[in-house]
Amino acid sequence: MSGKTIWFTGLSGSGKSTLSHAVKDILSEKGYPVVLLDGDVLRKGLNRDLGFSASDRAENIRRAGEVAKFLNDLGHIVLAAFITPVESLRKAVRSVFDDDKFVEIYLECPLTVCESRDPKGLYALARRGVIKEFTGVSAPFQNPESPDFSVDTDKNDLEQSVNLVLNFLQLKFPDLGKTATRASSRKNKTRKVAVIGLDCAPPKIVFDESNGLNNIRSLMNSGVWGVLRSTDPPITIPAWTTITTGRDPGELGLYGFRNRLTRDDYAMVTVNSSNVLCPRVWDEIENHGRRSILVGIPQTFPAKPHSGLTISGFPALENSPDFTYPRDLIHSLDCLGSKDYRADVRDFRSIPKDQLENSLYKMVNARFEVSKELLQKEPWDFFMMVEIATDRLQHAFWDTYENFGTGSHNSDRCKKVIPDFYRYLDGKIGEILETMSDETTVIIVSDHGARSSSGGVCVNEWLIRNGLLALKQNPVGETSLSIDAIDWERTYVWSEGGYYARIFMNVKGREPRGIIESSDYENFRNTLREKLLSMEDLSGECLSNLVLKPEDLYSEVNGVAPDLIVYFDGLSKRSLGNVGMKNILVTGPNDGLDACNHDHDGIFVATRLADMRHGLNLGRRLEEAFCRDVTPTILAEFGIESSSSLPGRVLAIGGEHVVSQEPSSLKKTGFVVDFEQEGRGFTPEEEEIVKKRLSDLGYI
Ligand code: ADX
Repeated sequence: MSGKTIWFTGLSGSGKSTLSHAVKDILSEKGYPVVLLDGDVLRKGLNRDLGFSASDRAENIRRAGEVAKFLNDLGHIVLAAFITPVESLRKAVRSVFDDDKFVEIYLECPLTVCESRDPKGLYALARRGVIKEFTGVSAPFQNPESPDFSVDTDKNDLEQSVNLVLNFLQLKFPDLGKTATRASSRKNKTRKVAVIGLDCAPPKIVFDESNGLNNIRSLMNSGVWGVLRSTDPPITIPAWTTITTGRDPGELGLYGFRNRLTRDDYAMVTVNSSNVLCPRVWDEIENHGRRSILVGIPQTFPAKPHSGLTISGFPALENSPDFTYPRDLIHSLDCLGSKDYRADVRDFRSIPKDQLENSLYKMVNARFEVSKELLQKEPWDFFMMVEIATDRLQHAFWDTYENFGTGSHNSDRCKKVIPDFYRYLDGKIGEILETMSDETTVIIVSDHGARSSSGGVCVNEWLIRNGLLALKQNPVGETSLSIDAIDWERTYVWSEGGYYARIFMNVKGREPRGIIESSDYENFRNTLREKLLSMEDLSGECLSNLVLKPEDLYSEVNGVAPDLIVYFDGLSKRSLGNVGMKNILVTGPNDGLDACNHDHDGIFVATRLADMRHGLNLGRRLEEAFCRDVTPTILAEFGIESSSSLPGRVLAIGGEHVVSQEPSSLKKTGFVVDFEQEGRGFTPEEEEIVKKRLSDLGYI
């Protein structure tokens, strides 16, 4: 069988990607060597230097044609899905091939229909003038003059369209033989993956049999489970973003909720979905014609157009039109009724604890109800939800669990707050599992764990007293460190608080008003490191501080990384960035809400539902698993290879042979990020709201 090219042309939204994926799956199953070239995919790699001017489109099509020809010569069947908007481009690409090795198939669909489908939300942006030169709106689309075949994708559904195309291909290329139709081959495409994320859930609670989490226990018994090592730093952002991209925080250039995006500025900005500059796991899955439902995943606000549905996660603004994709999703959910769906609880610090507990139950209930309704009503292949309530619960009530019996934590009620909540959640997980078919792989995962806090270290106060940080004026009382309050001419080092300290050095030529000579950089950094390592507690004992260099932690160091990363006393003490503090060391939780710090050890449980329902007793404990391994593991369940090199590895789920691999944390991936790209940042008003919420929760 010789190579040939099947070229799909048509408007954006006419169904080129979906149809060509479906045809590819069928031909591949028959054993034909098929390659798919998709405009959207090529434009992220080979053709990423090209835009949408007439000449760039011509070059885009020329390159795609050359690649297709090259693959044909190696014997591959190429399915090409490009708008190819004008006749001259179609003629040009046809001329590359022999007559009997090329067909042009036109996916005919009225502009109004494509626009109403608007699967990526691009038409809406084009109409508002945000996207220029958009085909059919502000750039031409000429109907093909002489396509070899046309399919009306408005009148035919996917199955009918696929069958029409296959019939045509068999007539045109007899050596393709009789191929299966879509209906009979569908069973091979039924693998689904459902990820249920529990923010901050520690092994200590989830894996403790006495807590009676029966649904999670059943998953553990018939699948694999173990400790999932978090990222450095072990905080919600970046940990969930590592889980959903397979890239470590250094590659992502994301070192916390707030980041410096450029060295030209000392200020930090709160990051959002626009600052994730690589595909998330669902993008890769959707590129293979699958559909996703995403609920509450951190760093998905503003919700982006994709092939599926999104209700964005923390830090997200429920009142913004960008809270969901599509925008009216939240209003179309029956189960919501008058109930409030929340990305997160409000007024974490100011409301009484029993009220907080109540809100947490309500929030969980709403999220699971919404998820259940979506799972039952909407088509999906990949589902992921993250419940943030577990983190909030632990921040407020951890001492009742960990230190039960001491101090005031001795009532029966105290003892049960956390286990009761987890049991409630476990019940909700059970309800969700019931909606899922046997072909579903279920993953329960947390981004980090929890541990007791023994107070904090006022890191900027320490820097001031060591002559490394200077303020223009002495602060009046305790206040957060403002960039404008710093006297940069006398400041060598400053730090950002949160669970860990990010130490930034003020280097000449690198920072706007740097004073450390760059030739002195490494010496200075090492001396500072030694000083931080020798910090003492109130009784003169040395704290067990961990002081790390980013290049030793990450496979790439992108964006503006801190010069040093500090975990005070392991992670027992949090880093407090405020100035005007009386003491450097703060002991004990100040108001009971910071009783819990983050810990590196989170959880991972993965099971194929068929195994559980058929009573398989695998129950294998994973020896070593990292947040960065989750994306490759999900992709492997779908049989999809990542489109680029990732540092993690596939965790074997089910009974297959476990291939042991070198820990790959420092494998260079060559991934670069450029935050100069435009994205929708938070508006100043949104930034204020989000900053207050982050500060309430101890993230800054
Ligand atoms: S072509 O015109 O050069 O053939 P191609 O098929 O590679 O286009 O890419 C089209 C895809 O790019 C669309 O499906 C859409 O997702 C995206 N896109 C982004 N901007 C534009 C634009 N201005 N016009 C058309 N498509 C665009």
